[in-house]
Amino acid sequence: MTPPCRQPARRRTAVLRREAVLATVPVAVAALLGATGPAAGTAGAAGAGDPYFPLSGNGGYHVRHYDLTLRYHSDARELDGKAVLAARATQNLSRFDLDLTGLEVTGVTVDGLPAALRRHGQELVVTPRHTLRAGRDFRVTVAYHGTPKPVTDPDGSADGWIPTDDGAFVAGEPQGAMTWFPANSHPRDKSSYDITITVPQGRTAVANGVLLGQRTAHGNTTFHWRETQPMAAYLATATVGTFKVEQYTTHDGIHVYNAVDPREASRAAPVLKKLPSVLEWESTLFGPYPFRSAGAIVDHAPDVGYALETQTRPLYDSAPDTDTLVHETAHQWFGDSVSLTAWKDIWLNEGFATYAEWLYDEQHGGDSAQESFDALYAHPASDHLWDFPPGDPGGGENIFDTPVYARGAMTLHELRKAVGDRDFFRILRAWATEHRGGHGTTDQFVRLAEQISGKRLDGLFHTWLFTQGKPKNT
Ligand code: TRP
Ligand code: ZN
Repeated sequence: MTPPCRQPARRRTAVLRREAVLATVPVAVAALLGATGPAAGTAGAAGAGDPYFPLSGNGGYHVRHYDLTLRYHSDARELDGKAVLAARATQNLSRFDLDLTGLEVTGVTVDGLPAALRRHGQELVVTPRHTLRAGRDFRVTVAYHGTPKPVTDPDGSADGWIPTDDGAFVAGEPQGAMTWFPANSHPRDKSSYDITITVPQGRTAVANGVLLGQRTAHGNTTFHWRETQPMAAYLATATVGTFKVEQYTTHDGIHVYNAVDPREASRAAPVLKKLPSVLEWESTLFGPYPFRSAGAIVDHAPDVGYALETQTRPLYDSAPDTDTLVHETAHQWFGDSVSLTAWKDIWLNEGFATYAEWLYDEQHGGDSAQESFDALYAHPASDHLWDFPPGDPGGGENIFDTPVYARGAMTLHELRKAVGDRDFFRILRAWATEHRGGHGTTDQFVRLAEQISGKRLDGLFHTWLFTQGKPKNT
């Protein structure tokens, strides 16, 4: 099941190109300009305040719902889109930004009235006719089209709308949502989604949540998907390809929709068969599955090099192995339901999903978690594994690197040894339950662990999450 000396688990399968493309643009401080009176309002910030990705997300409003209507001409690789955002002002707002890169915008309205529009890098700056008062609901429509292209992340990998030979692999972590729809693209802001997408007949478009309808007319098929649970923009997908589709309902009433590229089907089948039992096993450990639908999108996208825990329906660039299925499914609790407030806390996603793999192996005839830990701990102090501490990766170029995954999981194993199994699993369940559908920070996790165990754990977390270099054996 697991090789005796496992590679630090991470979901990358391709070699990283290590170009240091650091984001250097500061968060806009234009917010105070132009405020001339109480009703005038101020501009929403150009970013959500995340130092790793300063322009991701925006200030001044919350998106309650995205209604995306898309048409993908997969042969020409062109996308037509209309986005309707139901938003709420969180300050008196004279103007606000959306994140969108590439693509041509042909019109923006706010509450039905044409709004002024400016493009500035990834910022789509929208100035409505009138100031939007704090607390007020408003509706933004954006009409756009063009040839979507992925963005290059600080670590050199591509994310966003990634064309494939039969459609597109659509994966937005950490910043690619803006390549295919105008978004408040930071996990701090979570929203429900309707995604309606039309593709040439014979192709399938798969998004998050439940398939409400599918109809074919004039050589095109339209798929209407709905995710009612709060979702971060990076977890949205609208993956297009030639897929074999399988649908069923589990004993627990979860709707499963699997879409598999025929080229991956024979290798994917034995792994996908385990999905219901993996969901059930994870539910016993982490608490009830947080969503009503589930499944997998198994694409054939050999250049991508990673899988993504797209909400309800993880996206794989090729047939996954069991550990990868377990990992992406665990993210539904850790990352998707309980979201980050800052990318710096990424170990709360990747360390937890990796530890889920260790637990799965331990309970299914593979290595014990202790053996997984020991195999990693054996790596010498000079090893890349110890290059930076997982609680403070240092920048966006490191968030998907080995220390986050492997040493993040080691941190949880240390916690388990310190508090014992009973309290450890209580902590995991309480974390998933108390923050379900919302957010969690590293500080909150540490406090929860201390509260449940009644132990002081700041030393343990300080050592494993925040201290440079290989920790001493304890
Ligand atoms: N979160 C993904 C996983 O671990 C991995 C991932 C998403 C990723 N986007 C990425 C890895 C970009 C490298 C680059 O399941
Ligand atoms: Zn992961």
